[in-house]
Amino acid sequence: MTSPAVIAPGLADWPSLAAAMADCTACPLSESRQRVVPGDYPPGARVLLVGEAPGRSEDEGGQPFIGRSGQLLDGLLAEVGLDRAQLAVCNTVKCRPPDNRTPKRSELDACRAWLDRQVDVIAPEVVVTLGGTALGWALGRGVRIGELHGTVHRRDGHVVVPTYHPSAALRFGPNGAPAQALRADLRVVAELLT
Ligand code: URA
Repeated sequence: MTSPAVIAPGLADWPSLAAAMADCTACPLSESRQRVVPGDYPPGARVLLVGEAPGRSEDEGGQPFIGRSGQLLDGLLAEVGLDRAQLAVCNTVKCRPPDNRTPKRSELDACRAWLDRQVDVIAPEVVVTLGGTALGWALGRGVRIGELHGTVHRRDGHVVVPTYHPSAALRFGPNGAPAQALRADLRVVAELLT
């Protein structure tokens, strides 16, 4: 297929982007996926959450963060007064990596143009990166989430707030350090919107 880097910049709206992604075969993840997961975009969303990659539930359901990580994320968002239904949610890659492994550099590079164009179309005020892969996309590889989470960075007309991936919060439990950091970082996001 023609590369996303060639197709995506010419697509002006969310439905055209989602339709083009549904046919994407730009990397080998297209061979093992069940469904492409373009993301959610309620028109007017002021915040975009960026995760890593669809997992099993998302691959089956075609929507982002609908499995265990998503349920935890929804709960944390509600705690700080953010309504998931009003937030845009995407991933750095749109297809599930086999066995939920981390996406390879080549897969991230192949998919990047979709996400970059999604950001243009959504024009969010705040981008929240969930985990290290999304942080690398937004602020460059080599930055450390443990040092940057909860801080606010200016980038191309929006701000970026890095935080942990909800799967880290699942691993360490509701009172573990990642869950507490996520809660605090999402509070920063809620305050930016007031
Ligand atoms: N983990 C992610 O990074 N994204 C999803 O959509 C689901 C789980």
